[in-house]
Amino acid sequence: MLYRSRPVDSKQNGIHPNLETLLHRHTQKAYRRPVSESSRNLFTEVEARLREIKLPLILDSGCGTAMSTIILAEKHPRHLVVGVDKSAHRLAKSGFDADININGNCLLIRMNLIDFWRLALEHKWQLAYHYLLYPNPWPKPAQLTRRWHAHPVFPYLLGLGGLLEMRCNWRDYADEFQMALNYWQPGCSVLEEFYVKQALSLFEKKYTCSGHQLFRCRADLAKLDKLNQFFGLLQPNNPGLLAE
Ligand SMILES: C[S@@+](CC[C@H](N)C(=O)[O-])C[C@H]1O[C@@H](n2cnc3c(N)ncnc32)[C@H](O)[C@@H]1O
Repeated sequence: MLYRSRPVDSKQNGIHPNLETLLHRHTQKAYRRPVSESSRNLFTEVEARLREIKLPLILDSGCGTAMSTIILAEKHPRHLVVGVDKSAHRLAKSGFDADININGNCLLIRMNLIDFWRLALEHKWQLAYHYLLYPNPWPKPAQLTRRWHAHPVFPYLLGLGGLLEMRCNWRDYADEFQMALNYWQPGCSVLEEFYVKQALSLFEKKYTCSGHQLFRCRADLAKLDKLNQFFGLLQPNNPGLLAE
């Protein structure tokens, strides 16, 4: 197959000027969009399946066709690798057609991550590794709040802990992601350009074959003290955080 993909094109040049204000706002307000009932029911089923599998967890958020989830499961046979994506169409490309698919140490779930991350945190999941591979960049400046690091769900994603790795093909997204991590704990992350030997995901393959520059930002989320304060404030009897 011939891959030809254009690099991200954006009118934005550098870190978005509103990002810092948004990050500050997200430390001040709990995110209160209700989790859908269907997600809650599905998560209850996931939890029931997990009771039978007592393995440390790797999460592949926005796994697309699940190429990366399958490769990670092969690489880490002593972990359960959980791939989550909201797109039935993408998951079906690899033959996964149920909302929950389990195969060996690979568990695939069709769910919106905005619900999934909050449910996982509510059920006290703590991850060993968390991969966020090539999230939608939302390159228009007006789309800032759709980027994960600028979304109010971001602190909940971070609360799942583990070693987080985000990969993307847009330098500004990578810089913003690092800025958001550093907002919670200065110096907690490393950002670098990297070169692919063997693609981990379909988008990584597509971008590599198209000659794009690739970036990865990694952080150990065990060390985010400010995040612990945020979740302390979220306790039910604490009026410190305003609802968003
Ligand atoms: C650019 S694709 C990358 C897919 C895969 N990680 C890869 O590298 O090949 C982004 C993926 O994120 C998924 N996604 C975006 N927003 C999501 C959300 N709110 N909940 C679940 N999945 C989401 C999309 O369905 C899509 O499969």
